[in-house]
Amino acid sequence: MPSVKDLTIVNSNTATPTQVEHGLLRTLCSPELCNSKNLTVYKRTIQKGKQYDLAAGNDYHLVYVMNTPAQATIDFDDETHTAEEGAGVLLVPGESAPFAAPGGDLDLLHMIVPKPPAGVEEGLPGGPGYFFNRQTLRGLSDASGGRVRRFCAESSVRLLDGSRLTLTNAIQAGEMHYNEGGASPYHLHKGTPANPDGAAHVYMTFKGRGKVEVADSSQEIEPGTLVYFPPGVPHRLRAHGGTLDYFEIQAWRSFKTTILSEEPLGLKWYYEREKPGAALVEWNQS
Ligand SMILES: [Fe+2]
Repeated sequence: MPSVKDLTIVNSNTATPTQVEHGLLRTLCSPELCNSKNLTVYKRTIQKGKQYDLAAGNDYHLVYVMNTPAQATIDFDDETHTAEEGAGVLLVPGESAPFAAPGGDLDLLHMIVPKPPAGVEEGLPGGPGYFFNRQTLRGLSDASGGRVRRFCAESSVRLLDGSRLTLTNAIQAGEMHYNEGGASPYHLHKGTPANPDGAAHVYMTFKGRGKVEVADSSQEIEPGTLVYFPPGVPHRLRAHGGTLDYFEIQAWRSFKTTILSEEPLGLKWYYEREKPGAALVEWNQS
């Protein structure tokens, strides 16, 4: 019988930091810590007055701004962007981006994923990377209205001009918000012929409390907790005592999801309307 003991649960508030040149580094998930084959997740704090130069090397990197002081910046592709909460960059192999925190400590969620094989990419070219924030990304709502999400990397999500948000299946990641009483269906993820070991799957909670359920066991989690789900372990996340904001990752983005519960209204997702009264457009997840 699967249980919450099959998961790796890491509290970022109490994880031991390593002092690095630009500030503090906390490992929240890695092949050594979670057995997460294709995924490493750090909480990286750039201390006031310092800068961090990220060079992607041979990997894909997704950096998401968790907490930001005034004046923090991300340089990408010859442009300087405000490092506000919810902003970030996807870097593909060979790209780089400096982060600067002149006004106070800048907290980043930093995900690193190796280059996937061609079968996982399904013909996608893999690049280029991009800067994102909550204005450039599109919101999606589920049919029940209980959940709202905003992907910062997901190849099937289309921008307003019809182009794909990202041209790689290395990583799927984005923000999720549950209204009070919101929950995912009870579900599990398995591998595919292109990715037989399955995806490394992680939730990182930010605001509000959650409850993770596996079979008849459960665990309450506080803000700042990372949960790693091994492929094949069924799970559900619920908002617990209010709203819940968290970040969700799958790497590589090649997996098959099986819904085990029956919530007919909660399985379809729709792009948020650009104008009041506009027709709803369903997210085509392929
Ligand atoms: Fe899941």
